[in-house]
Amino acid sequence: VDQQQFYVQEIKSLLKQKNAKLIAHYYTDPEIQALAEATGGCISDSLEMARFGRDCDADTLIIAGVKFMGETAKILSPEKTVLMPTLEATCSLDIGCPEDKFAAFCDAHPDHTVVVYANTSAAVKARADWVVTSSIALEIVEHLDSLGEKIIWAPDRHLGAYIAKKTGADMLMWQGECIVHDEFSAKALLDMKHLYPDAAILVHPESPASVVALADAVGSTTQLIKAAQTLPNSHFIVATDRGIFYKMQQAAPGKILLEAPTAGNGATCKSCAHCPWMAMNGLQAIYQSLTDNSGHEIKVDEALRQRALVPLDRMLAFSA
Ligand code: 13P
Ligand code: SF4
Repeated sequence: VDQQQFYVQEIKSLLKQKNAKLIAHYYTDPEIQALAEATGGCISDSLEMARFGRDCDADTLIIAGVKFMGETAKILSPEKTVLMPTLEATCSLDIGCPEDKFAAFCDAHPDHTVVVYANTSAAVKARADWVVTSSIALEIVEHLDSLGEKIIWAPDRHLGAYIAKKTGADMLMWQGECIVHDEFSAKALLDMKHLYPDAAILVHPESPASVVALADAVGSTTQLIKAAQTLPNSHFIVATDRGIFYKMQQAAPGKILLEAPTAGNGATCKSCAHCPWMAMNGLQAIYQSLTDNSGHEIKVDEALRQRALVPLDRMLAFSA
């Protein structure tokens, strides 16, 4: 505990000294979110993290999340130093969509508009016409569909299937998935619902269609927090990373929040409702990134950055 307090105090003073802001995703551990909150930083979903990083007047951004979030921050704010607690924190969607294979997929369908999820590398974004996050994907695809455009969607097949079903858009899907959300099980969820018949089920759309089908509310992390705040139920079964409970409980005090079950158990499932890469964002790693940038700084090649900026700016302008 003393060691934790040491890091908290040191990080607070280093953030001030360096005119730095800590920007944390809802899936990071509670002590990281608490620190972002206490220091005037931001805790949010990937869309708002991008916007906050771009608009705040800090010299340095510490992105507690996964690598694509750091890259997005750098693409939007090339003049800022962008640090991450660890550059090893990646995402199964990013890993599953390598730039060369994705470029070949796009080249094979030149008449399609390329829409990529934010959970991708800068190089994949640079190949896209649009970047979307889960909080704005539905509206952007609806808009493109209304213009009669055919869409290449990458990389999350579950989110893509959900959007295609909602909008009826013509979407060619890349077959990627999030190892955390892919573990949620409809069968186990139904069993749990029998134990809590009055609970509302909240589901992130990176979950399989069979799980989404059982949801009372489907949405991005921010949208799920709003649902917990506004729905009248006393209990919620939440199918997303358990890191969200920190903010969801603040937003909905007195409500009982329950983790949705995964198919495996601790011994067999890969992630068990907590992203292993988000979990790498510890206090010690944040402290280290602030004391010595080397090995923590996000750098994006300038020509690549300019290309990736175009579809990112398009999303931000659309959502403004
Ligand atoms: P949000 O855009 O909803 O924050 O999701 C990002 C993410 O990585 C979900 O797994
Ligand atoms: Fe990627 Fe899933 Fe982790 Fe989000 S929770 S960063 S989508 S692996």
